[in-house]
Amino acid sequence: MAETLSTQVAIVGAGPAGSLLSLILHQAGIDSIMVERQSREHVLSRIRAGVLEWGTVELLRRHGIGERMDREGHVHTETGISYGGDQLFYFDIGAHANSAFMSYGQTEIQKDLYDAHDAAGTVAYYDVDDDVAFHDVTTSRPSVTFTRHGQDHRIEADYVVGCDGFHGPAKNAIPSDVLRRYEKTYPFGWLGILSETPPLEHLIYANSSRGFALASQRNPMLSRYYVQCPLDDTVDQWSDERFWDELLARFPDSVSSQIVTGPSIEKSIAPLRSFVAEPMRYGNLFLAGDAAHIVPPTGAKGLNLAVSDVFYLSRGLIQQINERDSHYLDCYSEMALRRVWAAVRFSWWLTGLLHRFPEQTEIDQRLQEAELTYIQHSAKGQAAISEQYAGMPFER
Ligand code: APR
Ligand code: PHB
Repeated sequence: MAETLSTQVAIVGAGPAGSLLSLILHQAGIDSIMVERQSREHVLSRIRAGVLEWGTVELLRRHGIGERMDREGHVHTETGISYGGDQLFYFDIGAHANSAFMSYGQTEIQKDLYDAHDAAGTVAYYDVDDDVAFHDVTTSRPSVTFTRHGQDHRIEADYVVGCDGFHGPAKNAIPSDVLRRYEKTYPFGWLGILSETPPLEHLIYANSSRGFALASQRNPMLSRYYVQCPLDDTVDQWSDERFWDELLARFPDSVSSQIVTGPSIEKSIAPLRSFVAEPMRYGNLFLAGDAAHIVPPTGAKGLNLAVSDVFYLSRGLIQQINERDSHYLDCYSEMALRRVWAAVRFSWWLTGLLHRFPEQTEIDQRLQEAELTYIQHSAKGQAAISEQYAGMPFER
């Protein structure tokens, strides 16, 4: 016999998108229940990106989860790109886009979100079986079913939201003749490490004939570095020594001489993909975050797109539930997808500009370097990359 629960919004997935949405709804007096396949500890242990667009920073502050971010995060107004063996320039996001970004790990945001949920006493089911299913999503009483510790559950709700990431079931609840999938995969991966070493002051991306590299940070004694690697590589093939040698070789001496190396405390390889599922609404089922789209990490857009989806969706749900006005809910999918496609395109463009592709020839490398030279010396070129890297404004 299933245990039947009732709420206003049932949310599948308690990652950044699901937990932020649930918290914002709670603050507006709207009940929700989160359903999460993994344990709370597993979700909190994930190492993800660490660049927050200013729209994300302001939204987190607005919802009372910015205090530790403001204390421990690092505000940046410029980002570096190196290329051609000895070229290095910084695009000035402050000057060209009147904006900035914050270095603060997604892992930390997840901790801040869960702390806020604990304080709010919201409801979440972790460790559920991999059998979550959506039902009656085109009716006024959709539901979500799942089993947990041998007990069947049904959550009846007014709205159901898939915040269940790329591999989650939500988008598959949309009929195949309605759902449109757009996908591009890249012929390489990113090998990332964390090291308890002082990071560089700025983030620096490297276009090198040896492949892409990135120097990033988490805090004054925690650095995050990446090198492009073949898709079929495994972490075992990359000793710390090999990683550091390759990373330093991909930056100019003026940068590599500043990098403090040390033992890795985390090492992982991730594939790169561009993916968009349309529409992000079907009846009373909504998609938000990685459930609807994936970007290569080059533009640091993944988390920021999840936040902008949640901004648009929470605004629509609150207006509908609290004011019986469906305007923002009716335009959620189109509005969110405009920002999604802009970020997907920017991430694709920056990935193509900075990485070495297997079939690439010498002219391809020179064409990339010519585009980087243009951006380096053109105020308009710097303005274009700056405003997109900083993140386009949320539509009002
Ligand atoms: N049932 C319940 N929960 C599920 C299921 C399922 N069948 N499938 C996936 N989930 C959970 C995952 O365990 C995960 O915690 O949904 C959550 C989805 O979280 P994310 O994948 O982090 O996606 P999102 O919340 O949209 O955040 C996007 O997270 O992964 C990064 O790079 C990504 O920065 C981006 C951000
Ligand atoms: C990170 O700090 O993990 C990071 C920064 C910038 C990116 C991707 C990842 O583009």
